[in-house]
Amino acid sequence: MAQFHPLTITDIHHTIRDAVVLTLRPQDPAAFTFTQGQYLTFRQDFDGTELRRNYSICAGLDDGVLQVGIKKVEGGAFSTFANERLQVGDTLHAMPPMGKFHTQIEPAKAKAYVGFAGGSGITPVLSILKTVLHREPGSTFTLVYANRAVNTIMFREELEDLKNRYMGRLTIIHVLEAGQDMDLFSGRVDQEKCALLFKHWIDIKSVDMAFICGPEPMMLGIASALEAHGLTKDQIKFELFGESQQGRLAKQAVSARAESGSGTQATITVDGTTRQFVMPADQSVLEAALANNLDAPFACKAGVCSTCKAKVLEGEYEMLSNHALEDYEVEQGYVLTCQCYPLGDSLVIDYDTH
Ligand SMILES: Cc1cc2nc3c(=O)[nH]c(=O)nc-3n(C[C@H](O)[C@H](O)[C@H](O)COP(=O)(O)OP(=O)(O)OC[C@H]3O[C@@H](n4cnc5c(N)ncnc54)[C@H](O)[C@@H]3O)c2cc1C
Ligand code: FES
Repeated sequence: MAQFHPLTITDIHHTIRDAVVLTLRPQDPAAFTFTQGQYLTFRQDFDGTELRRNYSICAGLDDGVLQVGIKKVEGGAFSTFANERLQVGDTLHAMPPMGKFHTQIEPAKAKAYVGFAGGSGITPVLSILKTVLHREPGSTFTLVYANRAVNTIMFREELEDLKNRYMGRLTIIHVLEAGQDMDLFSGRVDQEKCALLFKHWIDIKSVDMAFICGPEPMMLGIASALEAHGLTKDQIKFELFGESQQGRLAKQAVSARAESGSGTQATITVDGTTRQFVMPADQSVLEAALANNLDAPFACKAGVCSTCKAKVLEGEYEMLSNHALEDYEVEQGYVLTCQCYPLGDSLVIDYDTH
């Protein structure tokens, strides 16, 4: 399950100074069949410490390539490595595509989509919009793209080309923190800005589906505005690119919890292998699985990416943080195991049920 596959870098280009687009050729192409909007989890060793990071596929389904776009984060380990050290011919290791940031493509339907992206949050939205425009000839897409300034806009030229290719079907609204003449297109994309955009530029009543990817405060503001203008939760899809992926929230919360003395009898299945052991109340299911030599999948360990998703078949539990699973998945018993702690005497977890 948590299997990593080698991918060769066949091309690297800088879409802006601080962001690279990597074209990847998997050794096992079948393992990397993807759906628009999905992400890859990469594994890289940094002086003996293994880091795992998620990067969304920015290619559309019909582009014939596998590409990710990585923006350099100041002081960021993997993103700096990707921007400054990687070269064509190098090999990276990634898990097969994952993620639910997509809706079904329906070629016969004419739908109106709106996408909101902040900074590097454009990557999955780009994959979605390219796929929708190509595969649903009657559909339209409006992109609201927030950036600091013109020179930080990833994929600016590609977006312009797409606008020309899909004349009348793709609308792009750039909102910049600085450097725009009109107030409407300046500042941050928050609830108030959305209300203005819906009044003057976007016919929100006709929108069928909205996609949002960016920093959390931006996502929450946009979602509130969309709901206030009549969209239901089912019509809004999120992808959060978590800013802190150390799992601090979980640790703090757990230390505040009462410790249960005798531990929990855990039964955990990963990739057909089942192990039984006693786990302490202050250990996450993911950490317990890893400590017991199960090859459980994970990346952010912060409740953001859903790589560690599994199903609870039996037992009481608590999930401390969830930025990735949808309500219906939680109702069905799915958990982010990096955020899941036992509450009772026994817990049965299956990573293989999807
Ligand atoms: C599902 C998913 C998909 C993602 N897709 C992409 C993508 O397509 N392109 C992309 O560039 N990134 C993407 N990310 C973010 C990416 O996984 C990393 O978090 C990011 O590149 C930073 O990793 P790092 O190792 O360079 O920094 P780290 O060494 O982890 O962090 C260094 C410092 O930067 C802060 N930091 C971490 N991440 C961010 C951030 N995103 N913005 C601002 N500050 C941050 C940390 O709090 C820390 O202080 C995605 C994340 C998720 C969960
Ligand atoms: S590892 Fe990312 S949500 Fe658990």
